[in-house]
Amino acid sequence: MTKISSPPGVFDLIPNDAQEPWKNTSAWQYVEKIARNLAELYGLREIRTPLFEKTELFQRSVGEATDIVNKEMYTFEDRGGRSLSLRPEGTAPVIRAFVEHRLDLVPGGNRLFYIAPMFRYERSQKGRYRQHHQFGVEVLGAHDPEQDVEVIDLLYSFYRRLGLSEVTLCLNTIGDQATRTAYREALVDYLLPHRGALSPESQQRLETNPIRILDSKNEDDQALLAEAPAIHDFLKDQERTHFETVCSLLDQLEVPYQISQRLVRGLDYYSGTVFEFVVGQLGAQNSIGGGGRYDGLVHTLGGPPLAAIGFGTGLERVIQTMLAQGASFGDAIPLKIVLLCVDEVGRKAAPLLLHRLRSASLPAELDFNRRKLGRGIQWALEQGGTHVLILGEGELQSEKVVVKTLATEQQCVIGLDECVAYFKKISQGGPGDR
Ligand code: HAM
Repeated sequence: MTKISSPPGVFDLIPNDAQEPWKNTSAWQYVEKIARNLAELYGLREIRTPLFEKTELFQRSVGEATDIVNKEMYTFEDRGGRSLSLRPEGTAPVIRAFVEHRLDLVPGGNRLFYIAPMFRYERSQKGRYRQHHQFGVEVLGAHDPEQDVEVIDLLYSFYRRLGLSEVTLCLNTIGDQATRTAYREALVDYLLPHRGALSPESQQRLETNPIRILDSKNEDDQALLAEAPAIHDFLKDQERTHFETVCSLLDQLEVPYQISQRLVRGLDYYSGTVFEFVVGQLGAQNSIGGGGRYDGLVHTLGGPPLAAIGFGTGLERVIQTMLAQGASFGDAIPLKIVLLCVDEVGRKAAPLLLHRLRSASLPAELDFNRRKLGRGIQWALEQGGTHVLILGEGELQSEKVVVKTLATEQQCVIGLDECVAYFKKISQGGPGDR
């Protein structure tokens, strides 16, 4: 029979992927734990929304002219004839749920986080997948620059806690709708006479979404853009002051940043502050996280006119960067006990001992395959075992067991009743051995 492999652009997370360690479940568990701890520290509540939504949700929020909606969504009709789409991003579903459940009236309902898969039909390559996962945060209700800084600082702290270095924060403001309309006109006026010199993609964007041309990586486009009007020349006083305050608060918190007037982000709902964290280790897919203000979106989706800001950071890219930078994934479990039974009497005693150890929160496993002692020890090492407990008739008659510490190969005999206390002490950092 032929094997069925996973579709292109998706991947499995497995206990130990020797070739591609970023796919190890333990790495993901570690990163997700740090995200959850941090979310709690910042007073955020978890939200979980469905994997799919009505297609119009993304059309109305992310925008029909964006690549995400236009080219990358997994859209299908259900048996009832509704157009549905797998979520390509987390903000729109969260705001849909916020409005639907009147979370503005629920204490803590305006400070939300999620860790969830997203789906985009993109050309798959390293760092770009058709299912990726984001740790995302959405905070609603405050216009103030202090709120922008809290969210940016949260994301920066996440990277710092994971041990990432050389992460660059790119920061910009794109003003409100009126500012962008005025800027768009000026940009089109400037680019139209040079239309033929633009890349085909930018020529198309000139019609559909001209401001996104600023994001182009094409060298000819970049050269043309060097002389283009700058968005900051179109900001209203109040927008300029807001942005300056964000910058000076970031200075205060010692969060380093670069102002990048070309940063416009690929989703239509943004207004005001936008940001992206980039790293040097991932090649073309160098953005590990991004976000910004989207003050009009809650209202657009039928809710109250609430200001909002958030971010999403891609966990695949974060983990790949951690590996590339040699960051640690936390301490290995300091203790893992493997029970080996040398005869049937030992085997009968094993389930109760295993149960007692686990009830005391001590990680323990039993070799169910009746390996011989030497093979059993080898197997214990492969499982990441730190200690082997040898159970056999001889010892059990005197209510004793043999403990072997695998790192030192030292061996001792302890009372059967002492096992839990003995390993508890080791798990708390005590010497244990005697
Ligand atoms: P985004 O920039 O489209 O923003 O995605 C956020 C992050 O998800 C990116 O910086 C990247 O790390 C990761 N990412 C995106 N697409 C892929 C992919 N195909 N493969 C791997 N990783 C990917 C948003 O999605 C916004 N919802 C963020 C936000 C939240 N803004 C405000 N609140």
